[in-house]
Amino acid sequence: MQELMLDKTHDETRQGEAFSPIENQGKTYHKHFYIESYGCAMNFADSEVIASILQKENIGCTNQAEKADLILINTCSIREKAEEKIRKRLTELRQYKRSNPGLIIGILGCMAERLKGNLLEEEKLVDLVVGPDAYRTLPSLIEEAETGQKAINVLLSRDETYADISPIRLNSNGINAFVSIMRGCNNMCSFCVVPFTRGRERSRSAVSIIAECEALFNEGYREVTLLGQNVDSYHWRDEETGTVVTFAELMEKVALISPLLRVRFSTSHPKDITDDVLFTMKKYDNICNYIHLPVQSGSTRMLQMMNRTYSREWYISKVNRIKEILPDCGISTDMITGFCTETEEDHQESMSLMEYCKYDLAYMYFYSERPGTLAARRFKDDVPLAIKKRRLQEMVDLHRIHSHESMKRDVGKTFKVLIEGNSKKNENEFHGRNDQNKVIVFPKLNYKKGDYVMVKVHDCTPGTLIGNIIE
Ligand code: SAM
Ligand code: SF4
Ligand code: F3S
Repeated sequence: MQELMLDKTHDETRQGEAFSPIENQGKTYHKHFYIESYGCAMNFADSEVIASILQKENIGCTNQAEKADLILINTCSIREKAEEKIRKRLTELRQYKRSNPGLIIGILGCMAERLKGNLLEEEKLVDLVVGPDAYRTLPSLIEEAETGQKAINVLLSRDETYADISPIRLNSNGINAFVSIMRGCNNMCSFCVVPFTRGRERSRSAVSIIAECEALFNEGYREVTLLGQNVDSYHWRDEETGTVVTFAELMEKVALISPLLRVRFSTSHPKDITDDVLFTMKKYDNICNYIHLPVQSGSTRMLQMMNRTYSREWYISKVNRIKEILPDCGISTDMITGFCTETEEDHQESMSLMEYCKYDLAYMYFYSERPGTLAARRFKDDVPLAIKKRRLQEMVDLHRIHSHESMKRDVGKTFKVLIEGNSKKNENEFHGRNDQNKVIVFPKLNYKKGDYVMVKVHDCTPGTLIGNIIE
């Protein structure tokens, strides 16, 4: 159950999306792969790295599974439901083996890392299993799989960042792009499987990040989202000069590429976001005033058990600081209901925190125990499912009121909007987003995708602002 998906960056339950071969035009390949991606933006960005690795081997992308020699599923393990969905999808995809016995089916990403050889041996669902740090070995693994061997590489790395690989943009609107700036996570939140599926945190070279963002700008892209599980702990040391680049400095370097390039980032851990980051956001108009600041719970007792390393009060002071430095900043969050031992009082603390923060956007989930995590080893998953779901529903209902209020507050205001494409409902209208990440639809006039326009809002729905361009 999720609310108002305005921003795909944080939506871990994104359905599998098949990618279009936009880069294939005019080229012929001796084989084709079909890829579906699930999970967070980092997985989607990884699929673009994978496409680049395969294209170098003369394997082009197709968006028709029935025409593929190789079907790849880039997977997510964050909640049990995410894995169930992928298992179901793999069973469906196996039908293509009947018409194409040589077809190779591979599982990539977090579920591949978590379940390793089980998927090959016990469940016999796939021919190829490749973890997030092993994509460079895909070509040789594919060769192995083609000879009928079960091919697997789930080694995690301490230094792989795929820095030198230029991702092939898939399903792109040519305006917005994700740029991975780091991999892994060192935080060990007790509920979370990511440190196990993605390994230790490491930062990608700032030089390669800037080069990728410059290339994107020169190709016509107008917005980059810098991605990491915990972007504020970005820390890269140039071995040649000994200079260290922090996240605030990296963001500044990207912002300086051009005032026409918008910069967004995700995700910020409340414990790591610094005043430096906030002041850098204030200094540059093209760094968007929007922070995804997941809190997870409003109860300090829960936060301690979750190993989030901050209290309710500390988080509130961080939100206050953001509002002090960036009064117009949009703030969103992630919330979990029904974590181990959560009482009705704890739940009410989450509700009252939401009441205090009045988030513009919230991604809410009920707790799903993940094998091997600290919580699974230490605590009992003792809140009945019906209660987890009831609390989630209450939270979703409360957030709906807040997000609608936040939309209504914008009626009458004028925003700078980057045009991202046609509105889904009306081809005479464009859609774009304002600085605070809210979606706005408006009549096209004579503008085009990639232009910046000033839009005055005259109405809203709970998820969208509606306006007109002011010339
Ligand atoms: N790194 C980010 C952070 O620190 O918030 C996001 C991590 S995770 C990919 C996205 C969200 O999934 C988390 O913020 C959390 O709310 C949710 N999540 C993670 N593990 C979960 C679990 N076991 N059950 C339910 N939700 C979970
Ligand atoms: Fe998971 Fe916590 Fe790392 Fe986010 S910061 S990925 S929730 S361990
Ligand atoms: Fe899922 Fe892995 Fe992302 S578990 S949320 S795809 S890091």
